[in-house]
Amino acid sequence: MKIKIETTNPSRKKTEMLCGFVLENSEKILGINNISSKITSSIRQSLKDMKGESGKIIVVPTNNKTQAKRILLAGIGKKEKITNDTIRFVSGKIAQKASELKLKEFSIILPPSYLIESISAASQITEGCKMALYKFEKFKSKKEQSSPDISIFVSKSNKISKAIKNSEIVSEGVIFTKSIANLPPNECNPTTLATLAKGIAKKNKIKCTVFSKNELKKKGFGGITAVGQGSKNEPKLIILEHQGGSRNEKPIVLVGKAVTFDTGGISLKPGEKMDEMKFDKCGGCTVLGIMKAVSELKLPINVVGIVPSVENMPGGDSYRPGDIIKLYNGKTAEILNTDAEGRLILADALAFGEKKYSPKTIIDFATLTGACIVALGTNVAAIISNNERLTQKIKDSSRRTTEEVWELPLNEDYMNMIKSDVADMKNIGIGRAAGTITAAAFLRNAIEETPWIHIDIAGVAWTQVATKFKPYNPKGATGFGVRLILDYLQKM
Ligand code: BES
Ligand code: ZN
Ligand code: ZN
Repeated sequence: MKIKIETTNPSRKKTEMLCGFVLENSEKILGINNISSKITSSIRQSLKDMKGESGKIIVVPTNNKTQAKRILLAGIGKKEKITNDTIRFVSGKIAQKASELKLKEFSIILPPSYLIESISAASQITEGCKMALYKFEKFKSKKEQSSPDISIFVSKSNKISKAIKNSEIVSEGVIFTKSIANLPPNECNPTTLATLAKGIAKKNKIKCTVFSKNELKKKGFGGITAVGQGSKNEPKLIILEHQGGSRNEKPIVLVGKAVTFDTGGISLKPGEKMDEMKFDKCGGCTVLGIMKAVSELKLPINVVGIVPSVENMPGGDSYRPGDIIKLYNGKTAEILNTDAEGRLILADALAFGEKKYSPKTIIDFATLTGACIVALGTNVAAIISNNERLTQKIKDSSRRTTEEVWELPLNEDYMNMIKSDVADMKNIGIGRAAGTITAAAFLRNAIEETPWIHIDIAGVAWTQVATKFKPYNPKGATGFGVRLILDYLQKM
């Protein structure tokens, strides 16, 4: 699928489908003044029928009376109600329609800049179309999805083509994340993720280091070692380093939980929906997708991605409730539930990231707690931080990308809830109280003073029953966090 821009008159373009946006109750296609007079009556009728309702699309055949074989009208609703996501959402619908019609190419007219700033509109069209055309079909004998080429009609091309290129790389990062997060657990274990990471590193000329089970044990990664010991698929710690800034510049460290399957271990999960725990690697997959895009965008900063990866299985070698383990930073943890495994592997990775890289900022992503879904549902991620400025920046990126976040508090009272009688901490809180926060309290103990933000993506990492429909998030992994953090990194 290629995206290119054109500055000619859209009415003169020979295309399989010409798509234009329509405001609520408007009788005009934005950006077109003179569609061939021979078909204006059928267009006018269609405009009346659809009323420019946001998200509604209608395809009008032109019976060879214009250069375009069809005209697609895409409603974007009331002018005042247009959000950062409107064009992205509607473009996703358009692209899926084109794929359904098996078109080889189609054209979209950029809405005028007085309505939506052109760079932003072009970026949203690119993201919406690209992301909506991804479908997880790796294991289907017959593939359905096609990937038509797109022409975008603009009035001025400078800067816009750069923005489109940029959005293409961002969207490909999201798609990469989705495509590995969707892999079933028999096809993706920690070693598979390490191989995928090495693939990115080789292609994009960045550094990749992988610690094996023995190295992890020797170096004192007690959390990763304990959680990983119950599976014959050995644990790994994957590190990717992008050096776009100067050598002595402090990096941003990104850490992502990658439990390739979470059975709960000896504290076995109930069977219902256990299959969904293949998505317990989404945090790590998000980090890999971001690192891929960061290196392709050649961002002029230093970024390190750290992915602790394990399979959490019950068995004769598994760690148990009652065990006391020593984490990378030397603190001890009493295990009271082997299903609270994410915080153990993340604590090791966070402590290692801070010690080894003295980073400017640490950001972690994890499908960490079921409690996060209870608190915020399946459309908003929880954020918990030790730094207000960082929190504000992530909120700003959230507003721009429409990857929604909501802040939860973390004070001493919560830190006290994970105190253990026999070790420095325990790996669960008190009953069901504030489960998302007590998990974050455990992570907080892993770092010293570096500005840090934790993003619990348990509700948003894949589509669940209550997930709001978005054409660019078809069933399965959503790649949540990739656009959010790339926005944050690009604004630095
Ligand atoms: N991976 C799960 C969290 C999860 C559950 C994410 C459902 C998305 C959907 C995590 O490892 C876990 O099992 N957490 C426990 C913690 C509890 C034992 C303190 C949970 O949330 O129940
Ligand atoms: Zn678990
Ligand atoms: Zn888990």
